[in-house]
Amino acid sequence: MRKLFLLLTSMLMALGLTACTSKKESTMQDNKGKKVLIAYFSWSGNTEKVAKYIAEKTNADMFRIERVTPYSKEYEPCTQEALQEKNNNERPAIKGKVKNFDDYDVILVGVPCWWYTAPMPVFTFLEKEGYNFEGKQVAFFCTYYTAEYETLNDMVKTTPKAKHLKNFGTKDDHTDGVDKWLKEIGL
Ligand SMILES: Cc1cc2nc3c(=O)[nH]c(=O)nc-3n(C[C@H](O)[C@H](O)[C@H](O)COP(=O)(O)O)c2cc1C
Repeated sequence: MRKLFLLLTSMLMALGLTACTSKKESTMQDNKGKKVLIAYFSWSGNTEKVAKYIAEKTNADMFRIERVTPYSKEYEPCTQEALQEKNNNERPAIKGKVKNFDDYDVILVGVPCWWYTAPMPVFTFLEKEGYNFEGKQVAFFCTYYTAEYETLNDMVKTTPKAKHLKNFGTKDDHTDGVDKWLKEIGL
């Protein structure tokens, strides 16, 4: 009886282990073996929509970059707050932390173009939160109304030790071109 119990227990354990392994492997395969994080800022939803589209395609985890003090919900006051913050080159406090940042192989950072560059809370995320980008594959994407201007280049400069992949810009919430870009950067 004891032998039968031991046999059954080991069979069950073996089955459990196989199930765990194949689940892990299938997740890894979805990402072509890479663990992907999308950190994004979005005020009116366009960048969030593009970020979610990318997350679905790459099985990525998402982290929303948010200023501790929210921007005005009205367009005009928000643009003025953003302009003042940019002119003062501020690094406003942001909410939360990425869990297990070091586990990620690829970091995609998505932003709207604000006053020809990225919103200042994004620079807080890139420069002030202690995340180590050294050796990580990093790509930036942005959404804009007219053009991306210096948005993408300005962010690249903040992560000199990363392995930079091709960046991507799109108008409003348009996702055409995303699939091609993901292929180009190996996702
Ligand atoms: C404060 C502010 C500044 C902006 N500055 C620019 C700009 O310089 N160039 C541009 O093309 N679009 C600019 N836009 C438009 C946004 O980049 C565009 O609508 C973007 O897709 C919004 O993304 P979101 O919905 O994720 O916030 C600005 C919008 C806001 C609110």
